[in-house]
Amino acid sequence: MGNWKMYVEAPDAAKKFATSLRKKSRSFMGAEAWLAPAFPLITPVAVALKGSSIKVGAQAMSAHAEPAHTGEVSAKMLKASGVSFVIVGHSERRARGESDEDVRVQLVSALGAGLTVILCVGEEERVPDGSHWQQVANQLSRALHGVVPGTKLIVAYEPVWAIGKHAVDAMQGEDLEETAIFIRKILSETLGRDAVAKVPILYGGSVEPGNAAELLRQGGVNGFLVGHASADVDSFIEILKAVRPLKK
Ligand code: PGA
Repeated sequence: MGNWKMYVEAPDAAKKFATSLRKKSRSFMGAEAWLAPAFPLITPVAVALKGSSIKVGAQAMSAHAEPAHTGEVSAKMLKASGVSFVIVGHSERRARGESDEDVRVQLVSALGAGLTVILCVGEEERVPDGSHWQQVANQLSRALHGVVPGTKLIVAYEPVWAIGKHAVDAMQGEDLEETAIFIRKILSETLGRDAVAKVPILYGGSVEPGNAAELLRQGGVNGFLVGHASADVDSFIEILKAVRPLKK
């Protein structure tokens, strides 16, 4: 999944990217490609990808459903614009003041509109006393409070300390594996045992073509939420190639 943030800015560039990704989609057959452009770019990307298997989503949404909220975009509006998923709880939004409760309300509203939710969780830093585990557990259980099992949910684990750097600064595979096991345990406690098999886990934080294959092999995750490296079509395709299921 590509989280373009504000890296891709212009409709023409977005359209060119989407058209090229679509044209080259045979090269990463077997991997699912999802793109989250900024709001003004959703429509041009959705038009360019119409009829393809590449999904278009949003990077954020409003917790509100009522219309009197200037500058906000609701889940219903996203759905009507051809969006099939939305990212909630990204650390860059939490840093701007979104609380666990805001994230929960967005999540419920998105599910109600029929969108798949990508729930981001992740600690600011790893601390020797291990309290970062509790932070991740709290983010998960608070966002999922009252959510029924079987919802269209994906968890993106994105440690804040690893975001926006380079492959060498990303989390190491064995640490990721341990964290993915921990997240699955919390999901099982919160949503029931079935959730472990049904909720995919993505890793995000400095995923690049150079570390994707290794992180996937060691990390025990189902895919990636890619920021800066998703803004260049060739590097995004290299990452998609790395997550193709192994040919039997
Ligand atoms: P990055 O961003 O790949 O640039 O580290 C990931 C994210 O924040 O989703």
